[in-house]
Amino acid sequence: MAFLENHIAVVTGAGSGIGRAIAAGYAREGARVVLLDVNEGAAAEAAKEIRDTGGKADSFALDVTRREDCVALGKEIAGKIGQVSILVNNAGIARRNGMLGADEAVIKDWEDVIAINLTGVFNVTHAFLPQIRAAKGRIVNIGSIQSFVHVRTPSSPAYTASKHGVLGFTKALAAELGKEGVRVNAIGPGFIETPLNAQTRATNPELAKTFIAHTPLGRAGKAEDIVGPAIFLASDLSAYVTGSIVMVDGGYRAV
Ligand code: NAI
Repeated sequence: MAFLENHIAVVTGAGSGIGRAIAAGYAREGARVVLLDVNEGAAAEAAKEIRDTGGKADSFALDVTRREDCVALGKEIAGKIGQVSILVNNAGIARRNGMLGADEAVIKDWEDVIAINLTGVFNVTHAFLPQIRAAKGRIVNIGSIQSFVHVRTPSSPAYTASKHGVLGFTKALAAELGKEGVRVNAIGPGFIETPLNAQTRATNPELAKTFIAHTPLGRAGKAEDIVGPAIFLASDLSAYVTGSIVMVDGGYRAV
């Protein structure tokens, strides 16, 4: 039995890494998937890959920082494809600079990271909320280990603040929408090998080693590792789960 039959699922940042894997996984479970990414070509390629293997997929260009574009696209998708019942807020960027760099760089990191990772989640959620409410749908937000703080693998204050914000937003929305039958949860990925951290892995192999040394499962994650939990949170398997974060980190936060 497919777990997401009759659902229409929107995934942001679906052209790469975790979002791309989730979109393919949802399509395998019977959902019609809508892939959104600021990188239009990557989203189109990922959607084609899904269609070539028998899935139902469309793609659209969207920069999640552009609030009016989010609203317009929400309406366009409702008209052209149908009522969205699953939203995965996955688009994100990472920076690892602290607060003590050059002023301009520190400020730019803050503005970029908060605009995409946090305000982007708000923008897309706000734009699709009428449909999600009408469908008694589900929202899955991608948090991080940095939805908490770990001193042994520091991240930038901006990234950490953005992912704390994603968790707070998840809980607040779950509290507000629970009575309507809308469920809102987050996933907290650990160290997942994707293009997001390719440069860090190449230039700072010590950091990757530190992550893995503190990961009970003893390896880095793959984008595919996020897919099962993402299907769980979008499907009826998690009918009584809301306001929670499922850590998919190989046990990193447990030790
Ligand atoms: P990725 O870099 O492979 O993919 C991110 C996608 O988001 C890209 O296709 C990119 O074009 C898109 N994107 C970036 N800015 C955008 C914007 N303004 N509007 C629309 N799309 C935009 O990264 P990855 O690793 O797949 O990350 C996905 C999410 O998972 C992010 O929110 C990230 O913070 C989170 N995450 C990743 C971890 C990892 O170790 N890879 C760990 C914890 C969380």
